[in-house]
Amino acid sequence: MTHGLKMTIDWAGLRAAAADVASRAYAPYSRLRVGAAGLAADGRVVTGCNVENASYGLTLCAECGLVSALHASAPLAADSARDVPALVAVAVVAGDGQALLPCGRCRQLLFEAGGPSLLVDTATGPVPLADLLPAAFGPADVAARREE
Ligand code: THU
Repeated sequence: MTHGLKMTIDWAGLRAAAADVASRAYAPYSRLRVGAAGLAADGRVVTGCNVENASYGLTLCAECGLVSALHASAPLAADSARDVPALVAVAVVAGDGQALLPCGRCRQLLFEAGGPSLLVDTATGPVPLADLLPAAFGPADVAARREE
């Protein structure tokens, strides 16, 4: 899942895309609008916003929408439709346009989509996801520990 690619990351563009999609959030209960924008290894920019529900626990975080968009918009490979290009960089912002740290569940979601080297924007600049979710459980653990 490590990408190791030399890509130019347009952080200002990602933050602007996150702020734009935050304005589309459906957050009547918390009134905290959140937007997320991510750069995929194939150059696509995907976004998501939080969507709340009257049954509060059903809330979808902005990062959930982003990861769904990553899969939904990925080009189908001829040999394997499951080979989705990894996320390389993610910016998450609140309605005020400032960086918002992903919740614990979303760190796990982002780990599956981008691995430990995924760069996540913070108030003090981008950091690897490994800094926010150290010693993560991931797909390799399932493969290594499952009982056949
Ligand atoms: N929220 C996100 O969209 N992403 C996060 O990483 C943190 C929390 C949303 C969920 C809920 O709609 C609101 O922020 C308040 O928790």
